Amino acid sequence: MAPAGNPADQRWPWWPLLPLYPYGRRRTLVRELIPEQLWSFEQLQGIFYVAVPIRMTVARLRDGLMLYAPVAPTAEVLQALRDLEQRHGPVRSIVLPTASGLEHKLPVPAMARAFPEAQVWVTPGQWSFPLPLPLAWLGFPSARTRVLGEQGFPHGDQLEWQSLGPLDLGLGRFQEFSCLHRASGALLITDALVAISSEPPELFAADPTPLLFHARDRGDQPLQDTPEQRRRGWQRLALFASFLRPEALQVPSLRQLLAQAFSPGCRNPRSYFGLYPFHWSSSSEQAFAGLIAGQPGRLQVAPVLERLVFPRARAVLLRWLRQLASGPNASELRWVVPAHYDAPVPASAEAIAELADGIEARPWATDAGNWAYLARLDQLLLKAGVVPERPAL
Ligand SMILES: [Fe+2]
Repeated sequence: MAPAGNPADQRWPWWPLLPLYPYGRRRTLVRELIPEQLWSFEQLQGIFYVAVPIRMTVARLRDGLMLYAPVAPTAEVLQALRDLEQRHGPVRSIVLPTASGLEHKLPVPAMARAFPEAQVWVTPGQWSFPLPLPLAWLGFPSARTRVLGEQGFPHGDQLEWQSLGPLDLGLGRFQEFSCLHRASGALLITDALVAISSEPPELFAADPTPLLFHARDRGDQPLQDTPEQRRRGWQRLALFASFLRPEALQVPSLRQLLAQAFSPGCRNPRSYFGLYPFHWSSSSEQAFAGLIAGQPGRLQVAPVLERLVFPRARAVLLRWLRQLASGPNASELRWVVPAHYDAPVPASAEAIAELADGIEARPWATDAGNWAYLARLDQLLLKAGVVPERPAL
């Protein structure tokens, strides 16, 4: 482990680039995941073209619909939801299933306003930043907002709810609620598990710019649209999102950065005028193969969670997985639908139990290779006393 105090190691070179993508425009891809039962609404969200898909899942109930982890309710989204309401009944519940995932929380008040009859359910211990504000100040409708667990669960006769956590991280609380939608056999989860394909998601078909941007090795290369470039760009985006700073990535000096900017073919806003503050020093393909352990689309724990949320609390994650695999209706489990990356992922109670066994048997939250940057962040937070050595359960 490198010393914790080196400022060069603590630099966050992306800070000036904050909300650049996808600007004010959000495309939504609506897909039917399971016929007549489950629908996925996917949007891109991210910074500086490091955009990964975020998903809202719409589940059909006996008398209407539930929105799990809402996305931004654009006119396009609302139209598609109104169409579903016509066929299957009104939106009954809007669920914010995570305490920490800000990207899932921000769209909730606007979605709640769009469906004034719906009940809103939130995970307890919501963080607000920079001040701990009450939910009502953040736009949550207090008269029809309830707290998951503390005030029951929505549609308990049709859905089976399980809690991952809570875990006190010092900075705030981690908790998410998963839900088995019994009619379809789909287990809806938020951030804990992902399945990452080696091909770019369909959502990028309409505008592959983020993929092409990252497919380059340096800023003076123009954007080229080929299937190989799309695939390479996607794998790098997944590495960024998973490890924040993968091993194969180097951040060039400002001098290098400017020397490569404004080259012919890159003098346009789409290429950010050739400004590309990343250099790939070794094969990102190899790093990607390591990320997915050579098995595209397999269910795995998201690396950021493993290294920053559960590094000293693997038992909490295992307990959740084993509850999922042995719950009263676990035999009905057919699919997993996470809020990011691929869905639906074929699954079963046995597969979830095997995943837990595999996690228990393998090294956990290591410091090597791609994990080094996350490990260093964790060590810094630990040393500064921001996160506890033994997280409270
Ligand atoms: Fe998330």
